[in-house]
Amino acid sequence: MRTQVGIVGAGPAGLMLAHLLHRHGISSVVLERQSREYVEHRLRAGVLEQGSVDLLRRAGLADRLDREGLRHEGIELRFDGRSHRVPMTELTGRAITVYGQQEVVKDLIAARLAVGGPILFEAEATGLAGLDSDSPVVRFRQGGRDAELRCDFVAGCDGFHGVSRAAVPEGVLTTYERTYPFAWLGVLAAAPPAVDELIYANHERGFALYSMRSPQISRLYLQVAPDEDIANWPDERIWAELRTRLETVPDWSLTEGPVLEKSITPMRSFVVEPMRWERLYLAGDAVHIVPPTGAKGMNLALADVALLGDALAAWYDSGRTDLLDAYSDTALRRVWRAQHFSWWMTSMLHRLDDQDPYEAKLQTSTLHYVATSRAYATSLAENYVGLPEV
Ligand code: FAD
Ligand code: DHB
Repeated sequence: MRTQVGIVGAGPAGLMLAHLLHRHGISSVVLERQSREYVEHRLRAGVLEQGSVDLLRRAGLADRLDREGLRHEGIELRFDGRSHRVPMTELTGRAITVYGQQEVVKDLIAARLAVGGPILFEAEATGLAGLDSDSPVVRFRQGGRDAELRCDFVAGCDGFHGVSRAAVPEGVLTTYERTYPFAWLGVLAAAPPAVDELIYANHERGFALYSMRSPQISRLYLQVAPDEDIANWPDERIWAELRTRLETVPDWSLTEGPVLEKSITPMRSFVVEPMRWERLYLAGDAVHIVPPTGAKGMNLALADVALLGDALAAWYDSGRTDLLDAYSDTALRRVWRAQHFSWWMTSMLHRLDDQDPYEAKLQTSTLHYVATSRAYATSLAENYVGLPEV
């Protein structure tokens, strides 16, 4: 099988890249290890930055997003028995949209299949070869058979556990990483959200986040131990802990409902540089991971492939290599801004395992500073809604 760009992974990065390339008349094949059903129902991120919404609109992919997405103009910080709203739109002129990652993925798959573009589901890439030639190959396995996809370029969009990053020879990539002594327990509940905007809560028992997916569905998160077993968290314990960490201001209570899904996500910060080797271009979680506190993961994945799509289009249009050559450095500027912001939000809001009283005082001071300084609040807000140019 031959195509122009071989794309490994049908997450937001790989699917969006396929769509952008198609709009430039460039062919691609997407290989995805999981089934369509699986990727369309995998519950993950929920916040789109303004720039991601603009990208989806420009790409003609925002019909359902515009109907069903929830536009938010502020977030709430809850700490020290008080609540403070950060008025993001007033401070930056921009907003975020709450729209589940799996909805973005469904829209991207529908758009791709509507133009007959191939996505091979249950096709696992097993290795990459010839990346330093002008005809690299992706080896994959589908339906018990081994096959090859020959292409001009490979886009490694296969997430943290994919094969693409591992195809780069040893010594080329530099890794920067940090792990955190906690994880998030995420819950999806059939409960109408008790709030219109997201609540990020710093509590002595740990972080909690109140989010939503629709007027009927709440999405909630709790900081838990990194090795926590989900079996230790029956629904009643989850609700009790959420009440403790969130019902800290007068006259406010959670709405509860049946838990539809729950899972535990570990936290890490991770970057490898550069994001390219020869004819392999890496994007999204394959090259960088952020802790979810800043809601940046999916947004970074989309921003990477917006750059990569333009760079590949310039090469196919006129043989230009400057954008391809600049891809890694340009993308990494945004990546590192998001790394810092995600680390900063995480550090400000979580209870650290070995937290000493000094650290807790610094957190409260930082939160009070956000609540009282327009300059500091603006810094939080412009990072949260996404910086147009970094
Ligand atoms: P992915 O969405 O991971 O897509 C990669 C795709 O490649 C997958 O479909 C995978 O099946 C496929 N693949 C892997 N290996 C192969 C192979 N060998 N061959 C073929 N296909 C392969 N971000 C937030 O902002 N907020 C959150 O609450 C949040 N929660 C998360 C929870 C979990 C469990 C995880 C893993 C991530 C979460 N994230 C969250 C991060 C966000 O979802 C990711 O940043 C986003 O999915 C990145 O998109 P991507 O396309 O780069 O990678
Ligand atoms: C959601 C996830 C996040 O990581 C975040 O910071 C805000 C919202 C969500 O899933 O809704």
